[in-house]
Amino acid sequence: MSSATTVAITGAAGQIGYSLLPRIAAGEMFGPDRKIRLQLLEIPPALDALRGVAMELQDCAFPLLEEVVTTTDPDVAFSGASWCLLVGSKPRGPGMERADLLLENGRIFVGQGSSIDARAAADCRVVVVGNPCNTNCMIAAAQGSRLGPERYSAMMRLDQNRATALLAQKAGVAVEEVGDVIVYGNHSPSMYPDAANARIAGQPAPAVIGDSDWLRGEFLETVGQRGAAIIAARGLSSAASAANALIDHVHALNTPGKTLHGLAVCSRGEYGMPRGVWAGLPVRTSAPGVFAVVEDIEHDSFARNALEKTGAELAHERELVADFL
Ligand code: NAD
Ligand code: LMR
Repeated sequence: MSSATTVAITGAAGQIGYSLLPRIAAGEMFGPDRKIRLQLLEIPPALDALRGVAMELQDCAFPLLEEVVTTTDPDVAFSGASWCLLVGSKPRGPGMERADLLLENGRIFVGQGSSIDARAAADCRVVVVGNPCNTNCMIAAAQGSRLGPERYSAMMRLDQNRATALLAQKAGVAVEEVGDVIVYGNHSPSMYPDAANARIAGQPAPAVIGDSDWLRGEFLETVGQRGAAIIAARGLSSAASAANALIDHVHALNTPGKTLHGLAVCSRGEYGMPRGVWAGLPVRTSAPGVFAVVEDIEHDSFARNALEKTGAELAHERELVADFL
């Protein structure tokens, strides 16, 4: 058994937290041989609820769970953390776009970004889930200089999983037959889930699906609007699938290999994304926590147009939060 990994999670008493924490403590994020220390952050009104969650974690008697800290102090939560999972923030309600949360949620990531830069472990990786996650991630990363932008990623994995499941359903194959599905740009309706370069049972997805109108229409619309559809149906935003996607995100980022996966990372201009925004891009993990953007994927003019639009939206969001950067 290796030494414990310290994981800081913000908004831990919320919906996503409730689905996420037992799965991390059970070893689903870091593997069955890795002890876990959880450092859970909440705002004062949610501290009692957080203590209740901690009691439940204790009552699960997870063999891997070494310690649970509950706190309202970011400096305590992020102290020595190797992973900071930034979930805590307000979710949108019916009829809202994620960008409507920009100013209210964005300011959370100013204080937390500074605290992470001062307190987290030298090997720390930061993953932002709280919406609008791309721009919040940029805000958090902008507060520090110690860790560097490559340590910060935002979650596009829920979009990737949605697109993968939808392609599998349309093709009538098992989910594991579908691969290389990358969602580019912003976690917003402008996102571009690239089916043209996806594979189904080893074949190009467009050839297997055989319906380009569906791929350029209903497919893009369904993936892009899935979060809103869940809010309309549940009255609450996705939580179990978001927690699941975060486990997939961290696992993929921590597992070297040839598999392509999607993260929102600091753009250096790849695929026309504006430099310095956090955009969904294809990556491969080369060592635990270390990735490289894959730059040789080809796109037709339909895709390039979509990439330009989602990139422009990220640049616009950056202008709106200029005071936080
Ligand atoms: P929730 O309201 O159930 O929980 C959020 C928690 O964050 C609450 O307990 C709240 O007290 C806490 N919180 C608020 N401000 C905080 C702060 N400054 N520090 C620490 N904790 C704070 O919401 P949820 O359903 O868990 O969703 C959380 C966020 O994740 C939302 O912004 C939501 O839109 C986003 N989300 C993102 C994705 C994605 O794919 N990127 C998917 C689903 C949800
Ligand atoms: C999602 O995609 O389900 C989340 O980002 C929540 C939302 O606001 O749509």
